[in-house]
Amino acid sequence: MLKTLGTFFRMLRTGWVLVRHDALVPSEYEKAVPWFVGLFGSLSRIFAIRGRADNPGERFANALEQLGPAYIKFGQILSTRGDMLDPVFVKGLSRLKDKVPPFDMKKAEDMLAVEWGVPWQEKLDSLSEPIAAASVAQVHKGRLKSGEEVAVKILRPNIRTAMRRDMDVLHMVAGLAEFFVPDTKRLGPKAFVSTADRAVMLELDLRLEAAAASELSEAAVETGFFKVPEIYWELGGKDVLVTEWIDGKALSDDSILTDPNYKPVEIARKVMQTFLATSFDYGVFHADMHEGNMIAQPDGTLVLIDFGILGRLSPQEQRFHAEILYGFIQRDYLRIAEVHFEAGYVPAHHTIEDFASALRSVGEPIFGRLANDVSMSRVLLQLFEITEIFDMEMQPQLIMLQKTMMQSEGVCRRLDPKFDMWSTAEPIVSSSMRRELGLEGRLGDFLDNMDRARRTLEKLPDATENIAALAQAWANGDVDLSKGVGVPGSPQKPRKSLPFAWAGLGALVTLGGVWAASQL
Ligand SMILES: Nc1ncnc2c1ncn2[C@@H]1O[C@H](COP(=O)(O)OP(=O)(O)O)[C@@H](O)[C@H]1O
Ligand SMILES: [Mg+2]
Repeated sequence: MLKTLGTFFRMLRTGWVLVRHDALVPSEYEKAVPWFVGLFGSLSRIFAIRGRADNPGERFANALEQLGPAYIKFGQILSTRGDMLDPVFVKGLSRLKDKVPPFDMKKAEDMLAVEWGVPWQEKLDSLSEPIAAASVAQVHKGRLKSGEEVAVKILRPNIRTAMRRDMDVLHMVAGLAEFFVPDTKRLGPKAFVSTADRAVMLELDLRLEAAAASELSEAAVETGFFKVPEIYWELGGKDVLVTEWIDGKALSDDSILTDPNYKPVEIARKVMQTFLATSFDYGVFHADMHEGNMIAQPDGTLVLIDFGILGRLSPQEQRFHAEILYGFIQRDYLRIAEVHFEAGYVPAHHTIEDFASALRSVGEPIFGRLANDVSMSRVLLQLFEITEIFDMEMQPQLIMLQKTMMQSEGVCRRLDPKFDMWSTAEPIVSSSMRRELGLEGRLGDFLDNMDRARRTLEKLPDATENIAALAQAWANGDVDLSKGVGVPGSPQKPRKSLPFAWAGLGALVTLGGVWAASQL
């Protein structure tokens, strides 16, 4: 009760900050909300500060920056939902900056002492002042006793409690929004806040970031397009991550465009190759590929850092998405449409031909045009519009994949204004397709199926045992059919992986055995 009251008061504060920025009911959307909400908006605007930004998304971003870390993270996630929000709003919101003042050195030292159990001086020769600070963590440069330079990432003190409190407010706001403005239900604010909540809470454990880095480093070795800093596991924990220090220039550093030691055109290629190869060949991708999270080295190496968010595609999703992209490259719209139907992305009451024709309207205008005239982001926005017409439900992983593709395309274009997404994508996507559809892919499918069959067979003795026990119980009169069939004494666990056919086969084998035994 007290907690709810606390959350309520914090929500009032949130509301006040939004009002000050004219971001609670932005004047631009007054007509889209019920009259009483609109009226409330007009009245609240009396309290808004002067000289606010024109773009409602930007005003919202400014308010979130003032409100703190959880709100900043929430805004970042919201800005990826170009599929459900006004594009103007999203554009403004994407200016959201994850910049907050660093916390002081003393606190950082205390965090390290707690994590390592000894003062940092016992593990490191030196530790710099913070070199970068964001809403969740800050980074220091350090030197190990053995001489190697390292990046020491430390979570903000008490960030988990603060995030929890702010997230509770967002849950409350979402609940109220669904209740008072039923129209918002279509956007699913409650489900959205829950997704954001999970994503943010995962970022608050740096051991998970270390694990994500290590997972991507395997793909890095295989593809050779990029590198991941080495992780010092023994110095890491929930609140601290220590990695190899990477010399070079972040791609956000403009001097990379003019410095003769760097080749921006080649770096751009590597960025796109990294994204495509990790997602389509390995089913994992770095889902926050902005300029600040990539470092180029003078020898041409591209290094990815900051693994807070990892996207994942199942083998089937990898294949679908590779096929969709390949379809666009080949201008085979019917095939793309078929893939969407096969994957169940488009409900069956639409026709493949209609969908193919809608896809053609997106794909055709971009062919035969100079790469720098075409924006993949615009194409994706058009695709989002189509998804609405064809009642497609957006899959979170797909949205993340598309967002990352847009993000990496943006990075590539800044490095190389003539960057051609298609010619970079073609070799990777088609080799991935060849592998999937060719002998290798079919063999892979065969092995997958064999593996599944093996796992099922392994369960078979279990099943036979259960059936035998069941037969015994039946004979003892312990089975009450009105309660469903189960072996007495063994809890009824749902056995999803044991299909009925196998259970039936098991039963036949057992009964056959019993019959054979009775014939002896
Ligand atoms: N291994 C590293 N080598 C060099 N610089 C790093 C390294 N890790 C982080 N940094 C620097 O610290 C900044 C913030 O680190 P990052 O992991 O991206 O944290 P955040 O999640 O706060 O964005 C980076 O943009 C980069 O400048
Ligand atoms: Mg970062």
